[in-house]
Order: sequence, then structure tokens, then C-alpha cells
Amino acid sequence: MNDNQFVIEKFEPKQSYYQQKKFDCGNRIINKFIHSSLKKQVSHNFYQAFVLLDLENNERFSAFYTLTSFKLQANELERLSKGSLPRDIPCVRLVMLGVNLPLQGQGIGRKMMSDVLHRVHRASKEIGIYGLYLDADPNATDFYLSLGFTRLDCGGSDDVAKIFLSIEVINQLLG
Ligand SMILES: CC(C)(COP(=O)(O)OP(=O)(O)OC[C@H]1O[C@@H](n2cnc3c(N)ncnc32)[C@H](O)[C@@H]1OP(=O)(O)O)[C@@H](O)C(=O)NCCC(=O)NCCS
Repeated sequence: MNDNQFVIEKFEPKQSYYQQKKFDCGNRIINKFIHSSLKKQVSHNFYQAFVLLDLENNERFSAFYTLTSFKLQANELERLSKGSLPRDIPCVRLVMLGVNLPLQGQGIGRKMMSDVLHRVHRASKEIGIYGLYLDADPNATDFYLSLGFTRLDCGGSDDVAKIFLSIEVINQLLG
């Protein structure tokens, strides 16, 4: 991957993005969300989104992720915590992540996740954040585990895996 080919920017709902409507990461639900709902959800401030633009292809909409605030219950983190926790644990939730199919397998997903971790790290200096949470698609669970995430649900559900990375580990990863 040529690092100068891509830039990650905050998604602006009033802006048009080249080939956003043709975005295809292979996941039907995520594709539909990008084509029909992303603008509206960001306009309402339910999510913030960040988009990877391909500078060598007319700034094509090539990957994205969305973040929102979230609350975990202390019992969901029991296995990971060393001491007692308050009942409600403030987190950031990574709602969706997708990379356009022709670009998959070239380190873009990892690059997007590095951007997520830096953003959560910066935000945690301003607002209390205990960690990063997400419901992972079964096909992508190993991708997140390889980045240091832990499963919270011991493999209980077939639909999604509850995945978590504490701010302590994020800070260690970012050195
Ligand atoms: C999951 C996804 C974001 C990964 O993006 P990507 O650009 O292909 O990933 P990368 O090229 O950065 O891969 C990073 C590492 O993860 C591995 N990896 C990538 N996708 C993987 C997967 N689905 N399962 C297991 N490992 C995976 C790669 O082999 C690579 O390992 P390496 O560094 O040892 O070589 C992308 O495949 C995607 O958009 N999938 C469809 C949408 C989706 O499932 N999103 C997640 C919903 S929770």
C-alpha cells in the first residue's frame, strides 16, 4: 500500500463523495447503510463517521468507520477487570467498519483501526472512556482478535461477537 495514496477524513454529511453509492465491502447490511443511511445518521449526530479517500482515483470513497457513545454493564467486563467497577461503564462503540472489496487484504482495515485507536485515545483525555466496544461480524472476529481485542461473550452468539479493548491496552499499544 502506498501511504500517500489515501487520506482519512471526517465524513461531512453535506458533502458528496465520489462513488459512495457504489461502495461494496461484501457485507449487504453495511453496503445498504452506506448507500442510504449514513448521511442522515451523521446529520443527527447519532454517529460520527470517518472516510478513507483514494487520492489516485478521484478521491473515491474507499473505506469508512462509524463511532458512537456506548455503555457496558460491569458484569459484562467481569472477566477482564482486576478490581470492582461501577455498574455502568462508559465506552466508545465502533459501529461499522468496511473496506471496498478491491482494496481488501492490503492493510487498509488495519490502517483504519489504527486511526480509530488514536481517536479514542485522544477523546479519552477529554471524556471518561473505559474502552472500545463492538459487535463483530463472525467473519471479521479474527481480524479484531489479531489486533488485541478480547471476546466478552465466550463465543455465546452465532450472530455477533461482543468484542472489547480497554483504554489501558490502547494506551500501551500506542506507546
Ligand atoms: C474486515 C475488514 C474491515 C478487514 O479489512 P482489510 O483491509 O481486508 O484488512 P487488512 O488488509 O488490514 O488485514 C489486516 C490483518 O487482518 C487479517 N484479516 C483481514 N480480514 C480478516 C478476516 N475477515 N478474518 C481474519 N483475519 C482477517 C489480514 O490477513 C491481516 O493479517 P496480517 O497483518 O497478519 O497479514 C474487511 O475485510 C471488510 O470490510 N469486510 C467486510 C465488512 C466487515 O465484515 N466489517 C466488519 C464488521 S464488524
